[in-house]
Amino acid sequence: MKVFASRIIPQKGIQLLKEAGCDVDEYGGKTHPSQEELIAICKQYDGLISAGPNRLDRYFFEQCAHLKAIALYSVGYDNVDVQAAKDHGVPVGNTPGVLSNSTADVAFLLMLAVSRKAIFMHNRIVRGDWGFYEPTAHLGIELDKKTLGIVGLGRIGFEMARKCVGAYNMEVIYHNRTRNLEAESVFGARWVSFEELLNQSDVISVHSNLSDQTRGLFDYNAFAKMKQKSIFINTARGSIHNEVDLLKALQEGLIWGAGLDVTNPEPMDKKHPLLSMPNVCVLPHIGSATEETRDAMAVITAQNILAGLRGEPMPHAIV
Ligand code: DGY
Repeated sequence: MKVFASRIIPQKGIQLLKEAGCDVDEYGGKTHPSQEELIAICKQYDGLISAGPNRLDRYFFEQCAHLKAIALYSVGYDNVDVQAAKDHGVPVGNTPGVLSNSTADVAFLLMLAVSRKAIFMHNRIVRGDWGFYEPTAHLGIELDKKTLGIVGLGRIGFEMARKCVGAYNMEVIYHNRTRNLEAESVFGARWVSFEELLNQSDVISVHSNLSDQTRGLFDYNAFAKMKQKSIFINTARGSIHNEVDLLKALQEGLIWGAGLDVTNPEPMDKKHPLLSMPNVCVLPHIGSATEETRDAMAVITAQNILAGLRGEPMPHAIV
């Protein structure tokens, strides 16, 4: 069986596939293959490891219905037309669970970096501007006992709550379609309406999937309802916030700061005004980027591919 990986992934996963007798080829280009390129390549393969924002829409499944397995090298699957995959009988799997801690680490890192303007201050030093001691200049805000509002309290949100409660004894409120009873019992987390979450949170951290319900959820209207001293964190998907509205909200002082591991589009333009704001920290989508997590993702990816190729249910199937 032949497997194609749309990026080079950790060898732990590739090794598993090779040990099982698969021939594996990896795409080493510095840009993502176009959809037409990917389709042409996939025609020569039985399985696809899809890493990055490949558009796996109905057209893709029409062209690649022969694939026996698609393993996403991600937990998010907003780039996949799930119904089209079902209609064409192509099994698709993802990598849930193993990246929850590393992604929550990045949300926590952003919260702290924004609250103390750390990246802005670092960049000042790089520019040769250490600054003069001014007791009232560039003050941060503290997080102790503040209220953390989580949008989408699943596995990653749970880890973020654990870190914030452990480090700062923060109160946790959350907004989900369904209640998270474990978080309610472990952290005393309280389910609130979206409006209440906006009004009451000192830090809002977004961990939901990108869907029709969450696309553009954080627009000017939502930012205007947040506390003036609040921090907005998004490590989920850039399309959940409206970046023009976020910039406006920060410029008008509607909210205090923002930390983004995901932007819209990615990559963000290097001249984007958000990048020079003191209370903003932007990272290039590195939520899962640790050795441990990326290895674990590679292993799950290989397991999903092998199951699909054998005609067995994938251990982490979305289709
Ligand atoms: C994920 O796994 O969904 C990460 O955000 C990488 O896309």
